[in-house]
Amino acid sequence: PTVEFGLEAPFEVEYHDSIGSTNDRGRELATEGAADVVVLADEQVGGRGRLEREWSSPSGGVWMSVVCRPTIPPAEAPLYTLAASVATARTAREAGVDARIKWPNDVVVPVGEDGDYRKLSGILTEMEGETDRVEWLVVGIGVNANLEAEDLPEGSTSVSEEANDVDRRVFVQRLLEEFESLRSDLETVVPAWRDLALTLGQRVRVDRPGGTLEGEAVDVTDTGALVVRTDEGRTTVSAGDCEHLRPV
Ligand code: BTN
Repeated sequence: PTVEFGLEAPFEVEYHDSIGSTNDRGRELATEGAADVVVLADEQVGGRGRLEREWSSPSGGVWMSVVCRPTIPPAEAPLYTLAASVATARTAREAGVDARIKWPNDVVVPVGEDGDYRKLSGILTEMEGETDRVEWLVVGIGVNANLEAEDLPEGSTSVSEEANDVDRRVFVQRLLEEFESLRSDLETVVPAWRDLALTLGQRVRVDRPGGTLEGEAVDVTDTGALVVRTDEGRTTVSAGDCEHLRPV
C-alpha cells in the first residue's frame, strides 16, 4: 500500500499497520530493484536491532526503512548510517528533545553530566554489493516517538516522555527531508555528526571481537570510524566492529 505523503524528498512511502520488520520488507524491495522507497509501519512484531538483538516496536513509534541505491564504495556506506542518525537527532531536537548522538548510530538523550544517557532511536543499515560498489542499502530507523515509559525497554526514552507527542507523519517527513539533504552531499555528514556527538572528548570503553579497548574518543574519520587515543597510541574502530561502547 503506497501512501501519498506530500514529501519534498524523492521517496515513495509504503505503509503497513503491522509488519514483521520494515528492514526485511526493504530488503525484499531492494532485491527486486527498488530505489528511494520507504517502508513505514505503525507496529513491528519482529523488529531487529544491531548484533541480532530484538528491537521492541509497539504501535506509537516510528519504524521505517529507506531503500537506497547509491553510487558509492562499501567503505562509504557508514556515512548513510551517520546521516540517518543526524537526520533523526535534528528532527527530535525540532520536537523539543535534547537529542545527541552516541557513536556510531544511537540517538540518545543525556542524563546528568557524567556521560550517561537514555536511548531514543537506533539505526540498522543492511547492505548488498561487491567490493568496489554498493548495490543497495536498507537504512532502518527506529524512533521511540509516542511511547510511554512503561512501553519502553530499560534505558530508553521517547519523544513524548522528553517533550510532547508528535504528529508522526510530520516527524517522518522532516526526517526524510533532512536525510535527503545529507545524503545528496555526503561531505556534510561527518561535520554535522560532530556537532551533535556525545561521544567525542569522552573516555570510552569499546568492546570489539578482538577484545576491549579503552581510551579517549578524539575524532571520527571521513568514513565514519571512531578514533580512540589509548596509552599505546591512536586506533580507529569501524562501526561494524563495535559491539558495545560506554563512557567510563
Ligand atoms: C539498534 O540500535 O540496535 C538498531 C535498531 C534499529 C531498529 C529499526 S526499526 C525499523 C527497522 N526495522 C527493523 O527491524 N529494525 C530497524
